[in-house]
Amino acid sequence: MSPGQDPGLEPGVIDELMAVARDAATAAAGLIRAATGDQDDRPAVASTKSSPTDVVTAMDRAIERHLREHLAKVRPQDGVLGEEEDGLRAGSSGLTWVLDPIDGTVNYLYRIPVYSVSVAVVAGDPRVPGAWTPVAGCVVSVETGETWTAGLGRGSAVDGRPLSIRTDPDGPRELSQALVATGFGYRAERRAEQARVFAALAPVIRDIRRIGSASLDLCMVAAGQVDLYYERGVNVWDMAAAALVVIEAGGVVTGLAGRPLGERTVLAGEPGLCARLAEALVAAGADDFAEDREAARGG
Ligand code: IPD
Ligand code: CA
Repeated sequence: MSPGQDPGLEPGVIDELMAVARDAATAAAGLIRAATGDQDDRPAVASTKSSPTDVVTAMDRAIERHLREHLAKVRPQDGVLGEEEDGLRAGSSGLTWVLDPIDGTVNYLYRIPVYSVSVAVVAGDPRVPGAWTPVAGCVVSVETGETWTAGLGRGSAVDGRPLSIRTDPDGPRELSQALVATGFGYRAERRAEQARVFAALAPVIRDIRRIGSASLDLCMVAAGQVDLYYERGVNVWDMAAAALVVIEAGGVVTGLAGRPLGERTVLAGEPGLCARLAEALVAAGADDFAEDREAARGG
């Protein structure tokens, strides 16, 4: 099962799941806002994960706990996978909630007001690239309250306004006219290679945006605030809800060079323009990192 594939759910069921996702993400964002609104201090780092700059705050953990408790009450039959707690809690329905309590934790840490709560429900196994499809999702930008929603076959919207990816009547724009969002991983070795790819891409695009939240990057693609997005190493919880927002707006979210979503690099945008970016990324070596060669050698 891959993104956009039909898991055979009735439209009414998808609408209910959209409502659950929206209510859960909105309530969680409200909790974060209420707790951080008038604090001048930066939130504290509770611990680190893949590198010293990959941080977790007490808020990440508290919000994930809150979301899990809420979903256990309203959807006890479904599984849950979240960023901050290890492993998948299996369910019996074939559906799994995929949670990022704060996407853009470093922005949150520095009080840059660009971070989100992302809540998606997927069919299939969200741990395996290409084995899941998002069914419903909601991304709430915590500090602005902007709310993106999507349901499979039900369209996507921001604050209730339907979204539709901009397509140019005369065919896809040149890359030189495209504003491209991207992100960088937390590990230095990967980041050095990402910088190498970016150096090759920079001269052929309009400009770059490093927003700091993959889910918001994708939502901005759906809303036409950037034209394209690509990034290596994005986790399923960063993208599951927002990928559906893009797909339902008429865009594509895909792996590079025919790879499934979640393996190596993700790219998103209007289909024709996305194809141009894919070509440029492959030419820039985005599908050939030292970590890939090591993995192929079994390292
Ligand atoms: C990160 C953000 C960032 C992206 C990283 C993600 P987190 O998520 O989405 O923009 O570049 O790849 O890991 O750690 O803030 O949830
Ligand atoms: Ca996070």
